[in-house]
Formats: sequence, C-alpha cells, structure tokens
Amino acid sequence: MKNYNPVDITYRLLETQEEVSQRLYDLSNESFEHGSPWTVKQFQETIDLPNLFYLIAEDNGKVVGFLGGSMITFPAGDLIESEAEVYNLVVGNDYKRRGIAMKMIEEAKRVMRMRKVTELFLEVRVSNKPAILLYKKSGFQPVGVRSNYYSNPREDAIVLKCVL
Ligand SMILES: CC(C)(COP(=O)(O)OP(=O)(O)OC[C@H]1O[C@@H](n2cnc3c(N)ncnc32)[C@H](O)[C@@H]1OP(=O)(O)O)[C@@H](O)C(=O)NCCC(=O)NCCS
Repeated sequence: MKNYNPVDITYRLLETQEEVSQRLYDLSNESFEHGSPWTVKQFQETIDLPNLFYLIAEDNGKVVGFLGGSMITFPAGDLIESEAEVYNLVVGNDYKRRGIAMKMIEEAKRVMRMRKVTELFLEVRVSNKPAILLYKKSGFQPVGVRSNYYSNPREDAIVLKCVL
C-alpha cells in the first residue's frame, strides 16, 4: 500500500474540458470487483453534460477517486422540486479505507445543498457490502429494490435515499 498522508488529498469539481476519461476508466476497472461498468467513451461523454458533475479526489495532482452525479431541478407548479443522483463512486485500490469516499460524499452533499437539492438517491448492488456500509454511515436509508437492475453479473439493486 502506498505511504501517504491523508491531508495531502484534495477535492474539487472537475472542469468540463479536462481529459481524464481514461484515468476514470482505469480507476473504475481496478476498483470494481467485476471491472468497470462504464467504458472510456461513456466517461468522456458524461464529463461534458450540463446536468452532470464529477467530484475528484487528487493526490498531488493525480486522480485517485471520483464521484459522478447528476442534479435535476425542475419546476412543478409553484413548487421547485430538486433531487440528485450519485451514479458513480470509485476509490483506487491503493487509497481505500482512508475516508476518501466518505469525504467525497460529504463534499457532494455540500455542493448540492448550495444548489437547493433536497434529496439524494443512488443504487447499489445487493452484494456490495463495503458500499452499503459506507452509504449507511453517510446517512442513506434503503427505500426500494430494483429487480435484475444490473447485468454482468445479473443482480438486484437496492435504492438508497439521503435527505439533505
Ligand atoms: C466502496 C468504496 C467507494 C469505498 O471507498 P473508501 O474510500 O475505501 O471508503 P471509506 O474509507 O470512506 O470508508 C468509509 C466507511 O465505509 C465502510 N467501508 C468501506 N469499505 C469497506 C470494506 N471494504 N469493508 C467494510 N466496510 C467498508 C466502513 O464503515 C468505512 O469506515 P471505517 O474505515 O472507519 O471502518 C470503494 O471500496 C470502491 O471504490 N469500491 C469499488 C467501487 C464501488 O463499489 N463503488 C460503489 C458503487 S455504488
């Protein structure tokens, strides 16, 4: 395991023109038990979409983790409903269990609160115990199950929600 000081890790929102899709893919591929669920092209395309954002964790300028999410704010009569989704959360193998994912979730929530988001959702594989423990610790509650939501391997998703 790499020797580093957790205070060296910095967190920021990715700029749209930054060319990091290959790095995001490589991290995702090494970190997920079954390999990256997304291709390099999918990362590339989502970096530029206006409703989507990536929060990145860096060790001296090298991306070591990221959280991808979307924010949808839509008017409903006089009400403004605002919800967000986390669709990607990855920490590189050499950097796991240092609190980086917890910190990225905290940072993402801060950004969302500033934009008046009130509810945050995500899906997770039922077998992904590390992520489920992490999300519970970060204030998420289970609100449903999506049958056969994932492929390769086929598996149900638990839907989790956090009120901001
Ligand atoms: C899940 C993942 C993002 C966690 O990242 P991380 O930076 O290692 O997590 P943290 O260090 O912030 O962990 C916070 C808490 O989550 C829980 N946790 C995280 N990893 C765990 C593990 N492998 N086993 C048990 N609990 C775990 C613990 O409660 C931990 O607190 P502790 O270390 O004080 O016990 C990382 O393992 C990963 O990238 N996995 C592959 C991709 C993935 O599954 N993403 C989620 C998709 S929905």
